[in-house]
Amino acid sequence: MEILPAFKAPARVLMGPGPSNVSAEVLQSMSQPLVGHLDPVFVKMMEELKTMLRAVFLTRNEMTFPVSGTGSAGMEFCFVNLIGPGDEVIVGVNGVFGTRMVDVAERCGARVTKVEAPWGQIITPEQIAAALRTVPKPKLVAIVHAETSTGALTPVEEISKLAHAAGALLLLDTVTSLGGCPVRLDEWAVDATYSGTQKCLSCPPGLSPVSLSPRALEVARSRRTKVQSWYLDVNLLASYWGQERVYHHTAPITMNYGLHAALRLVLAEGLENRWKRHQQNHLALKSALAAIGLELANQEGHQLWQLNPIRVPAGVEELEVRKRLLNDFNIEVGAGLGPLKGKIWRVGLMGETSSRENLRLFLTAFCQVLNECGRPTDTKAALAALA
Ligand SMILES: Cc1ncc(COP(=O)(O)O)c(C=O)c1O
Repeated sequence: MEILPAFKAPARVLMGPGPSNVSAEVLQSMSQPLVGHLDPVFVKMMEELKTMLRAVFLTRNEMTFPVSGTGSAGMEFCFVNLIGPGDEVIVGVNGVFGTRMVDVAERCGARVTKVEAPWGQIITPEQIAAALRTVPKPKLVAIVHAETSTGALTPVEEISKLAHAAGALLLLDTVTSLGGCPVRLDEWAVDATYSGTQKCLSCPPGLSPVSLSPRALEVARSRRTKVQSWYLDVNLLASYWGQERVYHHTAPITMNYGLHAALRLVLAEGLENRWKRHQQNHLALKSALAAIGLELANQEGHQLWQLNPIRVPAGVEELEVRKRLLNDFNIEVGAGLGPLKGKIWRVGLMGETSSRENLRLFLTAFCQVLNECGRPTDTKAALAALA
């Protein structure tokens, strides 16, 4: 066939639900020469990755490493290792990713009890307590910390205590929370978590940092049946990521370079500073929206800093605005999903993307597009409210 022109990616401002923009340093790290996945240099870097991931997750869990695959691979990793046919699992469902957890748990043969909240709202400890009273031997309670489909941030500590008091493990999805707001695995006694590289860590998608507590690891180690997935079996992966360095699969070398560079940047900024930056830019966006008569659609008091669901005003076509932002301004924002389809725009302020400069870019473009779409909007008022 005829050789096609080389692919050339436009320089987008990634203000959707992920991926977020990636720094030049991370991209440069990924264009370094390849080394082998068992090269001593690479092996040393793997150790550094584990150490940095522990620092970012605020955990001492030995079993902390990046699974090769995106966040959904991390989700499957946690479920396949910890549960099997007939196990009782309670899952908080308040958006797309709780729904996905249910699907994954059911594929493992678990008996799933769903604890549901309207999209945009959090899962409450009272709801989990009520579910725990109806499930005789719960093995696992699973919740999504930061629901990217809605922007709800579910508090973890109370739910963790309830799960443990009932003898269950706590599984926490930290795909969107890690690096953008507090995630304290040890303090909150989280037994298992998976995250993603492409949100607040600002690395391209492709790896899923995971962490298992000693208790969770013991559950995986003492299983009587094999883990249903060979690729995600922690007992096999431990031999590659642990001291033995036995070949399991060919690690995606350059992705690991990228994560190494991204974690260095996160730790150099400092977790507290990074969280504060995310908080301040979220609050600035919220003020600017208020100044032009717009609001967020998620629960007040539990709003994510890194994902802002803007309610689409009456008379404005949701898709038209997103298209114009992308085509005319190179700005990507996300659409609403499920019951929120057509009702919200999801504006991500994750990692590198979370800056005043991007907020100004976005608001200038957004106000212009709203005006063109027939909704009079005062750009100056929006920008003034940012300060
Ligand atoms: C909260 C949450 N969990 C899980 C996932 C799945 O991650 P991935 O798309 O990287 O497989 C996502 C992705 O957006 C997410 O936001």
